[in-house]
Amino acid sequence: MFSYLKVEKHIPVMSAEVLNYLDMKKNGIYLDCTLGSGGHLQIMLERCPEIKIIAFDQDQEAIKRCQQNPFFASKKITFINDNFVNFPHYLTELNISQADGFLFDLGVSSEQLNDASRGFSYRQEAPLDMRMSTESTHSTLTAQKIINNCSCQKLTEIFREYGEEKKAKKIAWRICQVRKKEKITTTQQLVSIVVSCFSQKSKKHPARRVFQALRIAVNQELINLSRGLENALQKLKNDGRIVVISYHSLEDRIVKQIFKKYSELGYYQILTKKPLTPAGEEIVINHRARSAKMRVITRQK
Ligand SMILES: C[S@@+](CC[C@H](N)C(=O)[O-])C[C@H]1O[C@@H](n2cnc3c(N)ncnc32)[C@H](O)[C@@H]1O
Repeated sequence: MFSYLKVEKHIPVMSAEVLNYLDMKKNGIYLDCTLGSGGHLQIMLERCPEIKIIAFDQDQEAIKRCQQNPFFASKKITFINDNFVNFPHYLTELNISQADGFLFDLGVSSEQLNDASRGFSYRQEAPLDMRMSTESTHSTLTAQKIINNCSCQKLTEIFREYGEEKKAKKIAWRICQVRKKEKITTTQQLVSIVVSCFSQKSKKHPARRVFQALRIAVNQELINLSRGLENALQKLKNDGRIVVISYHSLEDRIVKQIFKKYSELGYYQILTKKPLTPAGEEIVINHRARSAKMRVITRQK
């Protein structure tokens, strides 16, 4: 069958481009909206140790991990365990009206993917969870709830819209048949249902799109991205930069449309006419980088 089990160490994606385009200023204020393993944050601070950082992650584990990292101990960092859409509230609390730069490195981290218990990976047996934030105060919607409770029509829409899955209807129908007999609670139960809908072998895992779709639905990733970006554009200082790295076409489309809308206002300028992609050598070293697209905008008023 499919043997995809491999543990990948986190390497920050497109590091050189991130540093180049953020163009950090001494004593500037920067928001790392997606802290993860702190990979980008570390290279930013190595390049420009005097910057002030406000770092967000909705995953408490990511925040704890970075708080315990000795490299970050002596640096000017405020760690915040919350969704990045809520950053304006924290800026007000910190008495900050605008920031010099924002970094969004979207999606899940290597740690989240590698932690079998989180249910993000179709390669590992786990409960169907997929929440980036496991704090019950943040969210209680899990992949298991979606799979067992949504109508067949709704499941089809989720797989089609968020996974661009051509067999969405067939997969949704099979799920609804199976769940009449037993509750679907684990990743591998779901994987075997999805696999049974494909007759031909393909290079890519057949459950890839369904897992992407569920993850997006559970974490409301596209709505959060739109709201987070709009907020960042409004809180960006003159000459400031917003750098966004996305990993699939749905995210990239949102970034492209929002940047276009703001550039048409006249005082924002898109710095990447076409999205930047990683160099071939980076993809060889860092498999995660293979689908990355980076877009950058600046404010000039
Ligand atoms: C791709 S990883 C970031 C990796 C990081 N740049 C590094 O180099 O270590 C994405 C992280 O963003 C977090 N995240 C995704 N969406 C978020 C949101 N709306 N609010 C806060 N954190 C989010 C995830 O929990 C994950 O830890």
